[in-house]
Amino acid sequence: MSLQNFCTHFAFSFDRIPMPPVSMLYRVAQKAKAPVIRRWYNLMSRIDRGEQMVFMNYGWASLDPEASPLGLQPEDEKDRYCIQLYDQVAGSVDLRRKDILEIGCGRGGGASWIMRYLQPRTLTGLDFSSKGIEFCRQRHAIPGLSFVIGDAEELEFGPESFDAVINVESSHCYRSMRQFLAGVFRILKPGGHFLYADYHSGKGLESIRRQLAESGLNILYEENINPNVLKALELDNSRKLGIINSKVPFFLRKLFYEFAGMEGTQTFNASMRSGDRIYSRFVLQSPVLKKAGERGVPAFDLCDRNPPAVD
Ligand SMILES: C[S@@+](CC[C@H](N)C(=O)[O-])C[C@H]1O[C@@H](n2cnc3c(N)ncnc32)[C@H](O)[C@@H]1O
Repeated sequence: MSLQNFCTHFAFSFDRIPMPPVSMLYRVAQKAKAPVIRRWYNLMSRIDRGEQMVFMNYGWASLDPEASPLGLQPEDEKDRYCIQLYDQVAGSVDLRRKDILEIGCGRGGGASWIMRYLQPRTLTGLDFSSKGIEFCRQRHAIPGLSFVIGDAEELEFGPESFDAVINVESSHCYRSMRQFLAGVFRILKPGGHFLYADYHSGKGLESIRRQLAESGLNILYEENINPNVLKALELDNSRKLGIINSKVPFFLRKLFYEFAGMEGTQTFNASMRSGDRIYSRFVLQSPVLKKAGERGVPAFDLCDRNPPAVD
């Protein structure tokens, strides 16, 4: 979910005013993007006073009617689709006894679920929304789980600090994917995993693939999960509608419907359903020999289902 379209439209809708050079406008829009997005996520925390929302992603649902549902505690049932997206992303590798960083942890629901169900040794959730991190610290008190305010594009951790980095539906907000990936490469231990999911336009996806390939990490697996995400949006629509209608002031609701990808919105119809936006998930691995340009682990063939769990 994002304000990306909103910001882009807003930044480029002044087409009747005499234009400064496009490159200059682009730089201004890119600079404005981070503060606007940060304010938006801070606003979400203010609006959700009853603290119902611990996730902010589109979710994932199986298309196989025979598939056995993911086992969840009763208190997690309401967040099933959002959790299932985390299961798809973080469940690809064995995280037990590992040190994990989640970048763009939002309201901490994913970090809490990973900690309770996948049992890493530690998990650090990072987000640039100070209100979001404040909420996470109060809401998710679990031994080994901590939250820090930080910028995905300026990761302030030492080299080779983490066994895995998780990033769910956050990267579309970043100004520089290259800078983000350089940070991920630096802080991952040799052989560590980068577990990543987000949506992109067709062209954007090509460019992301190129940047991932150039990052020094090896792509082990890629999957287009658009149909599963669409299904989740449909199945979770009435729950989200109830939350938005009960919490968001009337004049802001349309914006929130769009943000949440509700049925009938442009995000749902023109982007997700038409295939203009492609939601993908990736499993990447840091080379075992982590010298510049050296690839220690051969890339696996891309396959249809989860890659074999690697520990
Ligand atoms: C759509 S939410 C997803 C949150 C969470 N991953 C989930 O699935 O519920 C995107 C999150 O990315 C965070 N974010 C965006 N840009 C960021 C940046 N440059 N550094 C850190 N966090 C960022 C936002 O504050 C927001 O919490």
